Amino acid sequence: METLSTKAELSAWLAQGSAGPRVLVPTMGALHRGHASLLDIAAAEAGRIGGEVVATLFVNPIQFGPNEDYDAYPRPLADDLETCRACGVAAVFAPPADEIYAPDRSVSVTESSLSRRLCGASRPGHFDGVCTVVAKLFHLLSPAAAVFGEKDYQQLAVIRRLVRDLDFPVRILAGPTVREQDGLALSSRNAYLRPEERAQAPILNEALRAAARAYRRAGGCGDAGAAAAQFGKVFARATLARLDYFETVHADTLEPLGSGSEGHARFLAAAFFGATRLIDNVGEEG
Ligand code: PAJ
Repeated sequence: METLSTKAELSAWLAQGSAGPRVLVPTMGALHRGHASLLDIAAAEAGRIGGEVVATLFVNPIQFGPNEDYDAYPRPLADDLETCRACGVAAVFAPPADEIYAPDRSVSVTESSLSRRLCGASRPGHFDGVCTVVAKLFHLLSPAAAVFGEKDYQQLAVIRRLVRDLDFPVRILAGPTVREQDGLALSSRNAYLRPEERAQAPILNEALRAAARAYRRAGGCGDAGAAAAQFGKVFARATLARLDYFETVHADTLEPLGSGSEGHARFLAAAFFGATRLIDNVGEEG
């Protein structure tokens, strides 16, 4: 496995070493089983198209808000490289921040519709940071396909829009959310939870599944009101949590769904457990 940390090393590897089309898995490192599942999906896709898997490990400073955890974000590079090696990754691109951003950078990529709501409302500028870095990684690595997790459902939708609207020749593949046995979605931020917060954190997923059940029970086109009521009832048990948002949205457009709306529903929520912000989402099947 190649480990590349500069754009010059990357382009040298692309010029001589890279065999066939690339399947990219962009990450911020601190890899867990959720990331590994995306690497497995990428390996299967690479096998299908006769290509190879490239992973990126880059804690992207411009997608963090001023009061967020950029400095504290875990960076266990040796463990991450081991995970990538075990998953059959051909090359890892792990650049320092100043390799990616000029100090006077003045161009960024903004998605101005899907990014405005949900997580975008509580994290202004976050999706600009994500779109900008993903666009740069697509330029630098020219992948045929890239894999993203449904765990960050809004991010996945924003990236599909980025690819559509800027004509990136990259196929976007989605991986299902990998969870702990108690339902908590794996996240590097789970490590920040105090034991009593960790004990309550699975209620976020429980409440989302209860919302999906209530929506289904309403029959026909579903009932977003019933979903919200049920979410609230179950989530109330998380006494240490502060809800950021819960919404029932159209699975593709992320527009809020009212009662009797057409289209598949997706249930998304974010909540603070102490200082730690957790997100999760489920589909209609819960
Ligand atoms: P990061 O949070 O490291 O996540 C990298 C990828 O792993 C994302 O596509 C995310 O959705 C996926 N992922 C995280 N937890 C998961 C889980 N429990 N199950 C399945 N997939 C999971 O998302 C980012 O980094 C950044 O925003 C990035 C796209 C790399 C741009 O900087």
